[in-house]
Amino acid sequence: MLSSNTIAIIKSTVPVLEVHGTAITKRFYERLFTGHPELLNIFNHANQKQGRQQTALANAVYAAAQNIDKLHAILPVVKQIAHKHRSLGVKAEHYPIVGQNLLAAIKDVLGDAATEDILQAWAEAYGVIADAFIGVEAEMYEQAEKQDGGWAGYRDFVLSKKVKESEVITSFYLVPQDGQAIAAFEPGQYIGLKMAIPGEEHTHLRQYSLSDAPGKPYYRISVKREDEIAELPPGKYRSICTSN
Ligand code: HEM
Repeated sequence: MLSSNTIAIIKSTVPVLEVHGTAITKRFYERLFTGHPELLNIFNHANQKQGRQQTALANAVYAAAQNIDKLHAILPVVKQIAHKHRSLGVKAEHYPIVGQNLLAAIKDVLGDAATEDILQAWAEAYGVIADAFIGVEAEMYEQAEKQDGGWAGYRDFVLSKKVKESEVITSFYLVPQDGQAIAAFEPGQYIGLKMAIPGEEHTHLRQYSLSDAPGKPYYRISVKREDEIAELPPGKYRSICTSN
């Protein structure tokens, strides 16, 4: 457990970190992708390029830190984020990498204001927050694997059919390559698709809501084509899914 002194340091420094939110986040991602370019296979390059969602991760760490003495109170939020992490394949071993780079970014941006005591308190708090996420995600991974038709990690699917629903929306029918059963799903649930694009160094991950009723031998997604925006090629850097 964290000492009351550590908790006091965390609570008093959260507002300072929030003030420097954008600078810390920018530095965090620079460090993260320089030291661990393999993580570009997990993070959405569009969000990085367009600045969307960039601060979500760090802001959630600050919000959790603010509630560090009552983490159970934010369990619903942790679960929601954990679902996203699970669909992206975030693993326990990624957490120390993110923690080290976030702390280093805080130090870079705050300079001497980030004293050893402050950094130590944040390292401890991050550890507690990371453990909460790791625990929730481990349960989710196990549940996903053990359910009927479930699996661990990624599974190869084949595009069996494409149906043009309108000028801009196309439905894609995906069947498992191994011909085995697929897991049931709740209406509104989404799947993560990892795609290797010829000529691209890193894989692209996107989430799409499942657009057909559950109980079919395939998964269906319905994708809205994006117009080209600025210099970004449509689809590759921006994709929006229709919800059902
Ligand atoms: C305690 C630590 C962490 C917190 C509080 C956190 C929080 C968040 C939040 C709030 C989001 C946005 C969720 C949404 O859009 O619904 C997010 C997304 C994401 N997180 Fe985490 N995260 C943490 C650790 C990690 C780790 C260790 C990784 C893996 C290296 C990771 C990878 C991602 C990715 C890839 C996304 C999707 C956004 C994107 O592609 O830009 N996160 N996280």
